[in-house]
Order: sequence, then C-alpha cells, then structure tokens
Amino acid sequence: MSESNMPVMDRDDSHGWSSRTAFVLGAIGSAIGIGNVWRFPFVCYENGGGAFLLAYLIALFTAGIPLLLLEMGLGHKTLSGPPRAYGSIKKPLEWLGWLAVLVGFVLVCYYAVIMSWCANYFVFSFDLKWGDDPAGFFNKFLNKSDPTNIFSLGSIIPGILIGLVVMWIWVVLSIWKGAKTVSKVVYVTVILPWLILIIFVIRGVTLPGAMDGLAFYLTPDFSKLLEPKVWIAAYGQVFFSLSLGFGIMIAYASFLPKKSDIVNNVFIIALADSATAFVGGIAVFSGIGFLCHQTGSSIDQISGGPGLAFVTYPAIINQFPFAPQLFGILFFLMLLTLAIDSAFSLLETVVTGVMDKWHISRATANIGIAFIAMLCGIVFTTQAGLYWLDIVDNFNTNFVLIIVGILEAIAIAYVLGPKKLREHVNLTSDFKIGVWWDWIIRIVVPVVLIIGLGWAMYITINEDKPYGGYQSSAVFVGGWGLLIILPVVALILTVLKSKKQS
Ligand code: TRP
Repeated sequence: MSESNMPVMDRDDSHGWSSRTAFVLGAIGSAIGIGNVWRFPFVCYENGGGAFLLAYLIALFTAGIPLLLLEMGLGHKTLSGPPRAYGSIKKPLEWLGWLAVLVGFVLVCYYAVIMSWCANYFVFSFDLKWGDDPAGFFNKFLNKSDPTNIFSLGSIIPGILIGLVVMWIWVVLSIWKGAKTVSKVVYVTVILPWLILIIFVIRGVTLPGAMDGLAFYLTPDFSKLLEPKVWIAAYGQVFFSLSLGFGIMIAYASFLPKKSDIVNNVFIIALADSATAFVGGIAVFSGIGFLCHQTGSSIDQISGGPGLAFVTYPAIINQFPFAPQLFGILFFLMLLTLAIDSAFSLLETVVTGVMDKWHISRATANIGIAFIAMLCGIVFTTQAGLYWLDIVDNFNTNFVLIIVGILEAIAIAYVLGPKKLREHVNLTSDFKIGVWWDWIIRIVVPVVLIIGLGWAMYITINEDKPYGGYQSSAVFVGGWGLLIILPVVALILTVLKSKKQS
C-alpha cells in the first residue's frame, strides 16, 4: 500500500474498489433500494402527495447533499468505518459511529423481511397468485393478527421466514470478499432495475384513471406544509434513501482511491437516487389512480402504509396485455436486485466497523452479524410483524436516524471544524465546494433538524392516540425504547476494549 499520511489507519488494499465507476455504482446501489419504489411512494402518499415532493426537495438540498458530502469526505479522509472515523476526530465520538451503525442494523433487520415479501411475490408471479384482488391477497398473505393486542405475535408465517433465510444467505455471499465482489455485483443490480422500472411507468401511466393518481402526486397542497410531520417524514426519507446517518457512505468512501472526485460523485449519487424515487412514485401513483378507477373509491380511501406497493404493482402487472407473469417475475426480481446492494452495504459497514476495532476475520464478522440480524428479524415474520415493522420503521427512521444526523453535523461543525473536511474534499474535486457548506453544517442542518425533531416528538407525545393507534405499551417498547436502547448499546460497544492488530 502506498504511504499514508495517517499511519494509524490501516486499510487493506485488496478490499478496495476495482474502479471509480464501481464505487459510484456501489454507493448508488446502496442509496437506490426498495426505499425508492416501496417506501418513498407510501410516505409521499401519507403526507399529502405533491406537498411532500416539495418538502423532499428542500430536505435534499438543505441536509441530504451537504451531509452526503460530509460522510464521503470523512470516510475518505480517515480511511475508516464509522466508529473509528468519528473516534479519530475525538475518542468519545466513537460512540456516534456505533450509534449510526446500530440504527442501520435495526433497519436491515426489517429491510430483509421486506426483501422476503418481494421474494414471495416473485414466486407468486409465476401464476399471478393475487388474482383480481391484490389488496385482499396481501392481507391474506400477511394473515395479520389482532391490531389491538400486538404483543400476541401469533404464529410465524412460514413463507416469509424461508424467504428471510434465503435473503440473508444471498447477502452474505454478495460481500464475501469485500468491495471487490461488490464491484462486480453492482453493475447488474443497478442498471437492470432502471430498465424494468421504465417499462412499468409506461404501462402505469397508460391505464385508465392513472391521471387522477398522478394529479394527487404532482399537485402540491400547500396547507400540508404547515404540518411538522410532513417535514420530518421528508427529512427521514431523504436520510433513509441516501443511506445517510448509517455510516454506510463513510465506510464506502474509505475504500475509495486517494484521488477521487468526491463532490462530483456526491451529486451523481444524490440526483440518481432522487430521480429513481420520483419515477417509482409515478408508477405507484398511476397504479393508485387505476385502482380507484376500478373500485370507484377516491384517492384518499386507498389504505397506505408499508403494504401499498404490494397492492399497486400487482394491479399494474395484471394489466399487461401479454405475458403478465413475465412482467411480474421481472418486476420482483428488480426489487430484489435493488434491495440486495442496500442490504449488503450495511452489512459491509458493520463488518468494517467490527474489523477495524477487533481485527477478527472478515468471514466470522460477516456470518456472525448476518445471523444475529436474521434472528432479530424473525419478529417481523409473525402475524403481528407488520405492526411492529410500522412502529420500528417510524421511530428508527424519523427519530433516531435524525438524531444521528444532528450529532454528526455538530461533531464536524464544532469539534473537527468543517473547513478541514471541506479542504480535504476540494483537494481532489474539480468542482470546489465553498464556505456556504460550512454554514449549512454549522447552522442550517442542526437548527432545521432539531426544530423538526422536537416538534414531531412533541406532537407524537401529545396526540390523543399513540402512534398508529397501537397500544401505548407497544409503541413504548418498539418505538421510544429504541431511543434508549440504541445509545446504551453504542456506549457498551465504545467502551469495550479493542484488540490490537497482532
Ligand atoms: N437506501 C436504501 C433504500 O432506499 C435503504 C437503506 C438505507 C438501507 N440504509 C440501509 C437498507 C441499511 C438496508 C440497510 O432502500
């Protein structure tokens, strides 16, 4: 390895990216996931359609892109996974790195379950098993238990559990050799999905009723922008979608060649990701319009939530004039290829963090962490799984993840100093970022996120009903509990002794 000006940081070159394109695709692959075609549309739908789009764009420019620059710069500068990267700014900040990794860990536990739904739907596509009633079929598939007592989990749904195990095996194999393998996998998993998505958009928008759905998607209702929950959902989705705040982009950038144009990469990644979400939204909202046309209901009567995409896409699939099975198979294959690189980006990040600290072998870390995540995911494969998924997703993404965002901006702004990071990034970038960035990190990001978070928390606490109308004890365990447990576990991981490399 060439001489590094930061000798403490060891980075085994054999795990580096095979080319710049592979890196950009890897990071795009992490960013573009089912979040774009599954989460974005339902969050958008629940938060006012067109108004949400506007809030999303503002969130992208005031926090998404500036923080992506921050994470990429930090990883590239410190050549470390998140815990060691933050720890090298100041030792106690290692805690923040672990917190970031843990938020991602929680996410990947249920993300893999959504992947398992996709895998099941992939199989259902062979004979269009959902028939003429995708909504009813989805309910039967999940066989949901009584929502008023979600502590009684009911039984595990075998198909979802099998899918979960298969998904984890696939994820583990994908990163078996680190970034080298990743570099190859991403070529297929990033380009293929785009082609299929475009076919779906064309079919979607030409269905009867599609225009009503699109009108809801694209017409902003400005009064919605007065609701804090719309803003926090927008910021949450930007973080979720750009894989920000999980330390993923720090770990990925740490594998970059020294001379990499970071600013350029950041803009490519951010714009490609948003474009995909926008296009995914077109497909889903034309599907919603079509469903309403079919059933005679109005747009806001369709039930949203994490199940939305699993109802609208099958409805579109049914309408292909020839070989709908084939389009179904292709579509769910696409979702899986989109999801896989997001999922392994996180596993790779946790593995990097653990290896940085304890120097255990890649294989052990890889299999061990995946196994624990799989076990934790089992709760989401039960009949009460969707309820827990809904609660955990909301609190993890909209609260804990945003807190990580606030803390990382503060750490760079007030401990490291943004100028140092900006100068590092500009060193290798054609397009230089200006001092404006320092001020965004110092003032805009923390202020906007703290106000949004505080406001959203206040409202969540003071609403008549607990989140989603579930029992308050469940919301406490699966939601608020995360805000307590994750920081504590992060603290334990921080104070555990690291093992010196032998
Ligand atoms: N960016 C991914 C998406 O849009 C979601 C994601 C972010 C993710 N961080 C992750 C998925 C960590 C798995 C693990 O779908």
